Amino acid sequence: MKILVIGGGGREHTIVWKLAQSSRSTKIWCAPGNAGIANETLKSNNSKVECVDIGAEDLKSLLEFARENEVDLTVVGPDNPLAMGIVDKFQTIGLRAWGPTQQAAQFESSKIFSQEFMDRNGVPTMRSASFQDPSEAKNFAAELGGKCAVKADGLALGKGVLICNSADEANAAIEQIMTDRTFGDAGANVLVQELITGMEISLHALCDGKTAKLFPSSQDHKRALENDLGLNTGGMGTYSPVPFLKEDKLHEIANAVLDPWLAGCAREGIDFRGMIYPGIMLTDEGPKVLEFNARFGDPETQVYLTRLENDLVDLLEASIDGTLDEHELQWTNQSAVCVVVASGGYPSSYEKGKVISGLETADAIPGVKVFHAGTKTKDNEIVNSGGRVLGVTALGDNLLAARNLAYKAAAMIHFEGAFSRKDIAAKAL
Ligand code: GLY
Repeated sequence: MKILVIGGGGREHTIVWKLAQSSRSTKIWCAPGNAGIANETLKSNNSKVECVDIGAEDLKSLLEFARENEVDLTVVGPDNPLAMGIVDKFQTIGLRAWGPTQQAAQFESSKIFSQEFMDRNGVPTMRSASFQDPSEAKNFAAELGGKCAVKADGLALGKGVLICNSADEANAAIEQIMTDRTFGDAGANVLVQELITGMEISLHALCDGKTAKLFPSSQDHKRALENDLGLNTGGMGTYSPVPFLKEDKLHEIANAVLDPWLAGCAREGIDFRGMIYPGIMLTDEGPKVLEFNARFGDPETQVYLTRLENDLVDLLEASIDGTLDEHELQWTNQSAVCVVVASGGYPSSYEKGKVISGLETADAIPGVKVFHAGTKTKDNEIVNSGGRVLGVTALGDNLLAARNLAYKAAAMIHFEGAFSRKDIAAKAL
């Protein structure tokens, strides 16, 4: 099978690495890929994965490439091409692409769509309302005592959410998003949501339109610095499973969220085939959905796919074909920990082009896999080219062993300015 993976981060490196282990994969391209992806080899025939210089949002060129190369399966990693309708465009010309259609991807691309869907279908969530008029938005924020999240609707590249603790802060956030258009036209509509407190977890479930196969628990570390301080990032590290979230509790939370969500999709004719990834707050009143994502999480993918024992080609095909009920997901009992190594200054500005050393030594440790995110090859050396640079991932017989191994490997990797959080998975131990 000839496969094209779209994207070039740590999530896509992990997906490519896992697909390359399938006996069914005979050729893998990745657009645009990164230096680590270009180093992967297929198990079936020893061929190298090929990176193609096409951006993940250049749908026209991706479509042409897939058609010319007779790609059998295209796997879409990031949210933006999904929101732009890449899967629909591929389907229109008879190409198989994994991921939700543009309509179904609205669970992530439109916060208002998602919130209204939850309200209509009894998916537990917090009080919220959407507005086109700044003064109405301010009145609602005042009703919540100013304690609210103000979210720009539409695509804001993962940004577009301002957390407020007073009416003054809420008014300023509404002005910033709706009047100053800090996040562009996404700020024409805003969602104002009640702030709720509790422990935040995320779920992943692979869907085929009727069945949702739940993944194990994992936890991300969103802030840049130890003890959850510093700015929000795409995620500085993950681990799986989460020891304080036992299987029965995980299933109870998943049922409370996914059952009404699936029933709502059926009722409203939304055929969701792909990964649904809700962010959930565990409150005194039960689980409440904060947001939905419609793709694999990054760096959650790094710990999930290192633990997954199934052939990923089989699962993604079943997700497209509506046959997931024929598959049982199998996971190693081992724990996985991923420590992200980032560029100095991330998530604010940082310098690129710093030569990275120690990659091969770290990768050679049994149980360790170094997934690349923001890397590229320059003059025969691997340099950083993004904020999150590497996801150093390790498997171990328990969380402590996996964590020690991931940090041992991360300590072998060097580039000017590199930093990582030193407390990934610490709270779980
Ligand atoms: N781990 C955060 C995300 O993928 O959005």
